[in-house]
Amino acid sequence: MTPGSMILGTGHYVPEKVLTNAYFEKIVDTTDQWIVERTGIHERRIKAPGQNTSDLCVPAAREAIEDAGLTPTDLDLIIVGTVTGDMKFPATSIFIQSKLGAHQAAAMDISAACSGFVYGLALADSLVRSGGYKHVLVIGTETLSLMTNWKDRNTCVLFGDGAGAAVVSPSDGERGILSTYIGSDGRLAELLCCPGGGTAAPPSRETLENGSFYLKMAGREVFLHAVKAMSDSALNALQQAGTTSSDIDLLIPHQANIRIMDATAKRLGIPREKVYINIDRYGNTSSASIPIALNEARRQGVLQPGMTCLMVVFGGGFTWAAAVVKF
Ligand code: UT7
Repeated sequence: MTPGSMILGTGHYVPEKVLTNAYFEKIVDTTDQWIVERTGIHERRIKAPGQNTSDLCVPAAREAIEDAGLTPTDLDLIIVGTVTGDMKFPATSIFIQSKLGAHQAAAMDISAACSGFVYGLALADSLVRSGGYKHVLVIGTETLSLMTNWKDRNTCVLFGDGAGAAVVSPSDGERGILSTYIGSDGRLAELLCCPGGGTAAPPSRETLENGSFYLKMAGREVFLHAVKAMSDSALNALQQAGTTSSDIDLLIPHQANIRIMDATAKRLGIPREKVYINIDRYGNTSSASIPIALNEARRQGVLQPGMTCLMVVFGGGFTWAAAVVKF
């Protein structure tokens, strides 16, 4: 398939503060051994007080724009996948536009939980392919530390904060986004959600006190759906790209749980050495997880020019998405 767009630059940023599993052993009934064996996580990064989600995005965006050989005023559009933005409105992309000085760009957010970055990539690919947009900055970012109940051992050990970015531009004919695939199933929304703050449970003393503002997750159910949806979407994207998993040089799965990643790779027949893993250092950073991994893989030389990469994700909604990209 001839690509219409390509990933021209990537970047990422994680906050400086590291929380190891030892910290959680002190605040909830858990152990380092349980966390490592059940999730693969050793530590995660947590934003500093006063640091906004948009503040995490700006260094990630600057790195991606510079890597693409562009300046912020070259951008036509900024798409941000997040469910933990600076404000209820306006969109977090608006604050990023202002902080970058990307005054020519339109800006919008996508609410697709963990799938936000790959949803954004799919949209950017279509818009660049249409000829109407040239340089689209796609960001995945989350500060789930603010939505986490730090007394709930089922969830508080899992998440981390961060941001990752990619510039999507017209393909040079060789490299490019070969396919994207997105999907969702709203019947399962309540298995992974944050019920408070909208019309369903507006801000009040009662919703504050009953924990409505915390992330809720039925872990085991989410786990089972994640493995199936991630492998199915990967197969869909591979088929659309006219390729198979044996042609994939690097799999970048959503970093939610090492066991989900292993099970997905196994179903796809992709060996462990071709799977990029950084959940041990960052935990689950939701929509930031794939672009952080993507940028690290490029900087470390794990993902090299000429290689084909498969990204696949699953998250709240449920939502899922995959992309096949030649670098
Ligand atoms: O990014 C969006 C998508 N999110 C995901 O994909 C996450 C999907 N789910 C998961 O990764 C896993 O389900 C978890 C890591 C959340 C949980 O692992 P699990 O193997 O599914 O454990 P479980 O929920 O079935 O719980 C097993 C036991 C329970 O104890 P009992 O009821 O058997 O006595 C939990 O209370 O483990 C207990 N447990 C813990 N124990 C120590 C749960 N959390 C902890 C903990 N430390 N932090």
